[in-house]
Amino acid sequence: MCGIIGYTGDDDAIPYLIDGIKNLEYRGYDSFGCAFELKGAIEVRKDAGKIEDVLSRYGISQFSAPKAIFHTRWATHGSVKKENAHPLLDCTGMIAVVHNGIIENWAELKSSLGSHRFVSDTDTEVLAHMVEDEMRAGNSLSDAVKNVFGRIKGSSSFLVMNQRTEELVAVKKGSPLVLGLGKHGTFISSDVPSFIAYTNKVVYLYDGDLVSIWKNKYEIDNLLDKNVTHKVAKVNLTVKDAEKGSHSHFMIKEIMEQPGLIKKLTAGGFGEVEKAAGLVKNARTTYLVGAGTSFHVARLGTRILREFGIVSVPIQGQDITTFGKVIKPDDVFVIISQSGETADLINALPMMKNNKKIGIMNSEESTLAKAVDILIPIGAGPEKAVAATKSFTLSSIYMCLLAAFAAGEKNKALHDLNLLDINLYNQLVPSVYSTIEKAAYRLKRMESVYFLGRDYDFIIALEAALKLKEISYIHAEAIDAATFKHGPLALVSDNTYLVAVVSDKSYDQTIYNLEEIKARSGKIIGISNRNAKAFDVFIRTQDAGMFSFVMQTIILQLLAYRISVLRGLDPDRPKNLAKSVTVK
Ligand code: F6R
Repeated sequence: MCGIIGYTGDDDAIPYLIDGIKNLEYRGYDSFGCAFELKGAIEVRKDAGKIEDVLSRYGISQFSAPKAIFHTRWATHGSVKKENAHPLLDCTGMIAVVHNGIIENWAELKSSLGSHRFVSDTDTEVLAHMVEDEMRAGNSLSDAVKNVFGRIKGSSSFLVMNQRTEELVAVKKGSPLVLGLGKHGTFISSDVPSFIAYTNKVVYLYDGDLVSIWKNKYEIDNLLDKNVTHKVAKVNLTVKDAEKGSHSHFMIKEIMEQPGLIKKLTAGGFGEVEKAAGLVKNARTTYLVGAGTSFHVARLGTRILREFGIVSVPIQGQDITTFGKVIKPDDVFVIISQSGETADLINALPMMKNNKKIGIMNSEESTLAKAVDILIPIGAGPEKAVAATKSFTLSSIYMCLLAAFAAGEKNKALHDLNLLDINLYNQLVPSVYSTIEKAAYRLKRMESVYFLGRDYDFIIALEAALKLKEISYIHAEAIDAATFKHGPLALVSDNTYLVAVVSDKSYDQTIYNLEEIKARSGKIIGISNRNAKAFDVFIRTQDAGMFSFVMQTIILQLLAYRISVLRGLDPDRPKNLAKSVTVK
């Protein structure tokens, strides 16, 4: 999704914002642009393409300015081309706007701006012209933005720079915005890592916040709720947390962080899980809501709750309206989201308004985190690779703990968690890496790969297939091993590769299905704690009771990562994808 960062202060804004915008790259983008003051006028430099390329094409680092706004665009409205990149200017060239979101009534607004000159196909451009009209009518920049906000429909956060005023003004709805309070100036940005090198003093913004920033002060007025209060917080993030360090990609850094994060998790602090378990225990039905990878966590949660005799239903956010007649007030929702900003889930919130809500989330200050009654923070730290890895694992672990606690199986869960912590170190050994590499070489040129498993293993296969297609562009499909004989078997030839996830629980039945595939010359990569004749490549996993799926998952993440790298791709930035999906 789009990334926004602005700075006004005593220091030169340009180096801060070049650094800052690079730290927002992970959100996914196709164009980059900036606006800054030069000799009393606003200069805009922007283009489609990578930040680095646009920076050097326009020599942006040679400029200096006391205030500036930078933006990465992930196209939603208008194709990927220079004219559609942000910032967008008004007719006078004195007002520049960067925007993250969608203006649903842009066409209507545009037709009311008939005398203005439009140069892009974006919805954003109406904002610049509307602010222009408001200021021409004598309003301050802040009042102009406030009036414009009152007229737009949809979820939109935007930041405005006016050549004649020192302050930058923004308004938040939907997409995240946070202030960074530096020694010599103030930042406003889509995310904290973009300015953490300069300050850890932040103010998180809420929907409806109209904010003006100057070099040493800020003013916030919530336009939707007068009771909203703001406090200055100190974030615990370090520059190291937000950087790749010695790793080639964020994705591998994040995969390799998992053992350490799991160790930290075993140290305890399950108060929120206990509280949430009380709600689940007394619920009529527990609905588990998520999107993409987080929906796989929901599926896993439903399966484990069923094992404990608790009724639950996994729902994708966009489907929630179809449950209108079955949701009752004594039902409980568990919302699973890494970013806490996924539009499909935010749009589902009205359907849950009469119910208790539990969140399993990574971003503790996100829109969804603020909407739940009990938040279970997964503590994964920044996840910058577009493909979710550590957030899947940690959300799944917390989901399992929640299920086990609700079922009175806390001791078993904590026992298995310790087993996971210990055995994970036995799993990540050279012999396992070398079989992963062998499998990656076999798969790297395939056009299509199938992932198989039964029961729990099938859910892990779904997640593995999603990961592979995202970062390698190989068609990957997960099929329940038990259903293979009902049709998909027709696809098998001697050039078919299948990755089978085979845990103890379903070992005999899955191997039986794999033999049928083998008999038709299919090639099988087996992920299991036991070898089998059917496997062409065998990658050994360790056991961890109810958390054995974590072992399989990490191997499958490493496999997808290696295939992407061997295909010469950038696993951190898959084409067409954004880290958090804030559009419907
Ligand atoms: C896949 C992936 C996505 C997200 C989905 C939901 O690797 O990352 O499928 O899981 O967009 O995002 P969150 O969890 O932020 O709600």
